[in-house]
Amino acid sequence: MNADAVSAVAGMATLITGIGELTTNDPGADDPCGTLTDAAVLVEGGRISWVGDTARVPSVPATAEVVDVAGRAVLPGFVDSHTHLVFGGDRADEFEARMAGRPYTAGGIQRTVAATRAASDAELSARVRGFVAELHRQGTTTVEIKTGYGLTVDDEARLARIAREVTDEVTFLGAHVVPAEYAEDRAGYVDLVTSAMLTAVAPHCRGIDVFCERGAFDEEESRRVLAAGAARGLQPRVHGNQLGEGPGVALAVAVGAASVDHCTFLSDADVALLAGSDTVATLLPGVEFSTRQPYPDARRLLDAGVTVALASDCNPGSSFTSSMPLMIALAVREMGMTVAEAVWAATAGGARALRRTDVGAVRVGARADLVVLDAPSRTHLAYRPGVPLVTEVWKDGARVFAA
Ligand code: NIG
Ligand code: FE
Repeated sequence: MNADAVSAVAGMATLITGIGELTTNDPGADDPCGTLTDAAVLVEGGRISWVGDTARVPSVPATAEVVDVAGRAVLPGFVDSHTHLVFGGDRADEFEARMAGRPYTAGGIQRTVAATRAASDAELSARVRGFVAELHRQGTTTVEIKTGYGLTVDDEARLARIAREVTDEVTFLGAHVVPAEYAEDRAGYVDLVTSAMLTAVAPHCRGIDVFCERGAFDEEESRRVLAAGAARGLQPRVHGNQLGEGPGVALAVAVGAASVDHCTFLSDADVALLAGSDTVATLLPGVEFSTRQPYPDARRLLDAGVTVALASDCNPGSSFTSSMPLMIALAVREMGMTVAEAVWAATAGGARALRRTDVGAVRVGARADLVVLDAPSRTHLAYRPGVPLVTEVWKDGARVFAA
């Protein structure tokens, strides 16, 4: 579909009716998922204009398309708030070696950096567009994409530009690892990230991230990177506490980061800091699945009152999956989350992690980003792991996938 056709569709009205279970995330007294039954949703101009009981649908324009989903479940499109989708090559060999007993280390990132630098803009752009189609098929309608496999001024700028072609949510991750050519001059690399590289990427980005972990960047380096980004209006985010306990969470809370991602190894003090902050703990169970690490303890965070999001972290090293339904199934089965908590975390939680109020909920005025499951309830996302239940997806009121 060309851009004109998409906007024509987005401008049309669509009534989705016969919804057996609608997850609105418009919280009710005891139900953070704001669940409605026998519901309908009216979409006009790419936004939701009415939500309610099938029996009370207002009069709709004569030209409106009416879609009867025959009792199926509908939920907000998934908000995948953490991915690394612009890269060359893959690292299937590393995955195979890990499954034969080798540990995950941050060092593999350098291999993807080499493959990414060698790829043309056209190759990277075609591949990221392919990933976006893959996301839509699985119900993801908002995706954040990080740079971080270029690590030169020009390569980071082109990764940011290519990511920006497919999403508004681009995050600068020049501080992913210190590239090989700066191995003897770490301070020089941090200087570059916080000056010329930041200047080159900033026009394409909303966020700035740093991999604050042993083998990547220490606390002081990470603080400098985030401060430089914040001074340019970029929202801070942190990769922290993935491979062991460390300063990532405390730093994220101290700088008011929108989210700290991974949170696999947390001290009691980390949990208390998160609970007293607006920083979202974004859990990435695809990483633990693909690296055979212990899963983060979502129950501990939720019981302490921390806001939790789920995201895929789709990248060629630690988690080469773009499936939010898989994240929900893992969170429920392995991390102590209820189905409702996991679905909320994969939709409204992701929106919170991106500080967005227009996605992640089915409410009047929100973007019309909707997923229909070939199932009577959202529970089936965890109850039927690995089964492609997504049958129809709308983004900004335009149908972007139909099975
Ligand atoms: O989120 N942790 C750092 N970055 C990615 C891994 C990237 C890679 O291994 O290529 C992550 O897990
Ligand atoms: Fe990541």
